[in-house]
Amino acid sequence: MNVSVIGTGYVGLVTSVCLAERGHRVVCVDVDQAKVEQINRGLPPIYERGLEELLRRNIGVRLEATTDIHNAIGQTELSLIAVGTPFDGRRIDLTYIKSAAEQIGTALRTKAGYHLVAVKSTVVPGTTDHVVLPLLETMSGKKAGVDFGVGMNPEFLTEGEAVEDFMHPDRIVIGGIDKVSQDLQAALYEDFPDVQIIRTNNKTAEMIKYASNALLATLISFSNELGNLCAALGGVDIVDVMTGVHSSRYFTMRLPNGDCYTPLITSFLGAGCGFGGSCLPKDVKALVAHGGQIDVPMHLLNAVLQINERQTVRVLDLVKKHFPSLHRVQVAILGLAFRPDTNDMRESPAIPIIQSLLQEGASIRAYDPVANPEAENIFSGTEIRFCGSLREAVEGAQAVVLITRWEEFKQLPDLLADATPQPVVVDGRRMLDKHAFARYEGIGLS
Ligand code: NAD
Ligand code: UGA
Repeated sequence: MNVSVIGTGYVGLVTSVCLAERGHRVVCVDVDQAKVEQINRGLPPIYERGLEELLRRNIGVRLEATTDIHNAIGQTELSLIAVGTPFDGRRIDLTYIKSAAEQIGTALRTKAGYHLVAVKSTVVPGTTDHVVLPLLETMSGKKAGVDFGVGMNPEFLTEGEAVEDFMHPDRIVIGGIDKVSQDLQAALYEDFPDVQIIRTNNKTAEMIKYASNALLATLISFSNELGNLCAALGGVDIVDVMTGVHSSRYFTMRLPNGDCYTPLITSFLGAGCGFGGSCLPKDVKALVAHGGQIDVPMHLLNAVLQINERQTVRVLDLVKKHFPSLHRVQVAILGLAFRPDTNDMRESPAIPIIQSLLQEGASIRAYDPVANPEAENIFSGTEIRFCGSLREAVEGAQAVVLITRWEEFKQLPDLLADATPQPVVVDGRRMLDKHAFARYEGIGLS
């Protein structure tokens, strides 16, 4: 198929590259000229494992990037909207969605033939039918369901695993105002074998996306609340508690050959320094705000957010336990991105933790395998020393604070074995063996 993708961020670029790899002809559109030029040179503006290789293979062959949305709509039969949907402090900010819909509508005015517009961005229930569709009709002067179709195709990729997730999705959710709108989207995914396709209306598709993210956020805050109780009780470690919970038959299946299978969901049932990123925090906030607007207070999800906000303070408290003052204390920060395998710093727990440490006068060395440049931008003008290796970051540290679950941080026991005096290690992800350090602190442990 000939497809245009509006927005070339994490979702738009990965979608464009992967659809091209699956044989579609894709034109991706962005308002950011620099991004477009970079993509056309075969260089992804974001770090995502495997993305550069696929981009290089497809660019100029089945994929091109442009700022000219009019032209892109003209030469394609289906458009996916993948622009950002941030939270503006009070509700979901639909500015980019509206602007993309207006631009597509304007282009449709002069385009001959049927076109399908599907929203891939995460939008609160009702947005596709009650915001995007009317804008398309007004700007095009055409009729939805007659001259063009409207659909909703939420994206479930996880950053850091984005290419793999897109190429091998666990489910494809397709909303649409009619069968033609659904069929055209389904045709996009014909070459994705063995995947369950869920066909539904647009509002349900929108809600499935929020329900999925809200559940993950709830499990994390549930684990953190229990972890905080364990820490206060003393003599109970949340890791042991969760190991017991994970062993239940609800979470661990015993296979006929005797092996055990533990589903991925258990990774969200563990205590840590809280969830960040460009999706879980903003999506839960948007859903809570949306519920509030229609007089349905979201008590549970409100609590999920409150617990999460306090979690980074817990990390700081664990450091403070060991020093009368943090003034000039050498602190190594391990991990800056909101999760491993990405350079995305959006809403990373590292940001408030570092800001508080700076306020308290600590001297900071920081290291992330890929996100140092992004963090340097955020913290420009501060005296943080960004290090090129884990070894350099921990050298001479009095406190080591682990924030992101990068695999290479498992080398820490070896690296610190000969350090004198031994630094206090604050494990914000509970990923290290607490017995491997002379001075260990972890969330959910006292
Ligand atoms: P992003 O901020 O990385 O990218 C958005 C892009 O859209 C930017 O490059 C911006 O310049 C461009 N843009 C804005 N207005 C435009 C317009 N009118 N025309 C063309 N381009 C325009 O955002 P993202 O992280 O890719 O997220 C996009 C959407 O997908 C959001 O709704 C998000 O919630 C959802 N989502 C994101 C992820 C993820 O892991 N990042 C996963 C699933 C769903
Ligand atoms: C999340 C979902 O996992 C994806 O399914 C979804 O498509 C995506 O949001 C989205 O809508 O954008 P993502 O935010 O990229 O993906 O990454 P996650 O691995 O879910 O991590 C989110 C945050 O939760 C990270 O800060 C991570 O460190 C934290 N987390 C994760 C925990 O604190 N504890 C855990 O047990 C797991």
